[in-house]
Amino acid sequence: MNVLLVGSGGREHALAWKIAQSPLLDKLYCAPGNPGMAALAECADIAATEFHKLIAFAKDRAVELTVVGPEDPLAKGIADCFAEAGLVVFGPKAAAAQLEASKAFAKQMMVRYGIPTGAYEEFTDADAAMAYVRAKGAPIVIKADGLAAGKGVTVAHDVDTALDAIRVAMLDKAFGDAGGKVVVEECLIGEEASILAFTDGATVLPMAPSQDHKPIFDGDRGPNTGGMGAYSPAPVVTPEMFEEVQRTILQPCVDGMAKEGKPYAGVLYAGLMITESGPQVIEFNCRFGDPETQVVLPRMKSDILPVMMACCNGTLDQVEIEWDDRACVTVVMASGGYPREYEKGKPITGIEAAEQDADVTVFHAGTRLDGSALLTNGGRVLGVTALGPDIESTVEKAYAAVEKIHFECAHYRTDIGLKALNRLA
Ligand code: AMP
Ligand code: GLY
Repeated sequence: MNVLLVGSGGREHALAWKIAQSPLLDKLYCAPGNPGMAALAECADIAATEFHKLIAFAKDRAVELTVVGPEDPLAKGIADCFAEAGLVVFGPKAAAAQLEASKAFAKQMMVRYGIPTGAYEEFTDADAAMAYVRAKGAPIVIKADGLAAGKGVTVAHDVDTALDAIRVAMLDKAFGDAGGKVVVEECLIGEEASILAFTDGATVLPMAPSQDHKPIFDGDRGPNTGGMGAYSPAPVVTPEMFEEVQRTILQPCVDGMAKEGKPYAGVLYAGLMITESGPQVIEFNCRFGDPETQVVLPRMKSDILPVMMACCNGTLDQVEIEWDDRACVTVVMASGGYPREYEKGKPITGIEAAEQDADVTVFHAGTRLDGSALLTNGGRVLGVTALGPDIESTVEKAYAAVEKIHFECAHYRTDIGLKALNRLA
């Protein structure tokens, strides 16, 4: 079959890498793709939100399955448009993607269906939000309701920071309409983990748990980023807890969406805080995680295309997924200055040397080709990924690969996987 993959980041390179291994695949197309994906697929210069161009392209190339990576096109209804055009698409429709696109919608769903999450209130009036914060005190979390490219959340350790975050979102309109409404939420204490699941709207098939590293600096210091590294499995999620997440979070969410008339099919991503009283939901995302995908898919032994097709045609109850027992670790190499200002266009060397190790794969995120020269082209540049027998040796293998790769002002965290190692020690 011919497959079209929409997106251009590290997550999409990992998806392309996995899809390219399927014996069912005839040809893989990516739109717009990146230089890493171009080595595996034919890339078309169409943006992820140009739905009509994507539909025309898919029809012209006899594409039988379109896989959507990022949340933005899903929230804008790419799955609805493809379905109307008679095309099969992996990813939820706009009504279901609200689970990520509106934090207030997600919280209402969780309360209605008894899914464990922090206490919250939603506000469209800044004065009322501020009064609530003053009454509750800190620590407290302020979230812009809509999609804000990962910048809409402030974990405030004092009241002034919380009030400022409300001002920035609601009065300065720093996130545009996304901040017209804010959610003010209880600050959950614990260790985070991500559990992604395939679903066809009824059956839920979770993937191996993983852990992201959001802040830019070692020791979880500095501003939040899109994710600076990940590992899987995540020992903070015990087998019993994994089962609990399925039973108390993922399945009730999918069942609830069906009851609401917004059936959810695709990948459901649960961002969890593992608290003393058990796993609680920090957020739902309507797509694969980045960089979680880069550590989860290398551990998936089964062919991904039949799983995705089963999500699209409602037969996921007939599917099983086999997982590799080995550990996987990704270290993200970023442009110096990210997530604030940074320069682009720096030449990248050493990827081939890093990939000499058969267990190392370098996923491209923010790169571009200038002739034959590979240049940096974004905040997160590469996801250097290693597979190995255990987390400790795999962390070492990933960092040995990182050290072979060079570009000016490269920044990466040096403590990816440390929480797992501390827990295992
Ligand atoms: P998000 O942009 O929704 O992914 O949130 C960014 C980060 O903020 C999360 O990864 C958590 O580290 C933190 N966060 C969000 N909500 C809460 C909460 N209720 N309690 C503690 N931390 C939170
Ligand atoms: N790794 C965080 C996310 O994909 O939202």
